[in-house]
Amino acid sequence: MTKIAPRVTIAMDGPAGSGKSTVARLVAEKLGLLYLDSGAMYRAVTLLAIQNSVEEDISTLIELVKECNIDFRDNGQRIILNTEDVSVQIRSPEVNKLVADIAKVPEIRHEIVRHQQRIGENGSIIAEGRDLTTIVFPNADYKFYLDASVKERAKRRFADLQAQNVDTTIDAVEAEISARDEKDISRKHSPLRAADDAIRVDTTGKTIDEVVDFIVKQIKTKNK
Ligand code: DC
Repeated sequence: MTKIAPRVTIAMDGPAGSGKSTVARLVAEKLGLLYLDSGAMYRAVTLLAIQNSVEEDISTLIELVKECNIDFRDNGQRIILNTEDVSVQIRSPEVNKLVADIAKVPEIRHEIVRHQQRIGENGSIIAEGRDLTTIVFPNADYKFYLDASVKERAKRRFADLQAQNVDTTIDAVEAEISARDEKDISRKHSPLRAADDAIRVDTTGKTIDEVVDFIVKQIKTKNK
């Protein structure tokens, strides 16, 4: 394992299917960092809305979010909502469909961002999502923006879903990704965009290992 500075913050953003979760998890393992999957937190809040039937009642949802506990276990691999392990439920088609609408609510973002910043205070971290390089950790030591063509991203998601025996088509997955991109990019609060000082990485046609190696190299080079 490569030792890096005792308190280093690496922020990574990109659209759905750009590979950032897998890449960030592997970089965390290689460099001994805490891994923060910020999308999982928005997914947990979406599940909270579904569980309490308040998908349309945003003011009640905001109160529930203020009171809820969201914790990670196994270095970000598992997510606990209050006392329940919801790691599987947060990936359901119902959550996929609703999450971008819940994530655009500014009061919900405010709560989640504060929680993420508190997690980041505890030491060296790699955090990934949509606004980590711009809003959550604007002073991160390293910033990356991962992207890939929509076709490639749909292909990757489709393969993941097939492995989980989810019955869908590549066209349906591409349509869902495009719809989510549109919502993430065009929303008023904290839209998905690359920070000016982020290193852009196009992962189209690259293997996960190639992207991980590239990122680790950038960190080692700058960290000398
Ligand atoms: O990365 P993901 O697909 O698990 O993210 C789920 C949704 O959460 C995505 O549609 C946008 C939202 N999100 C966000 O608004 N801000 C983040 N930092 C991370 C995710």
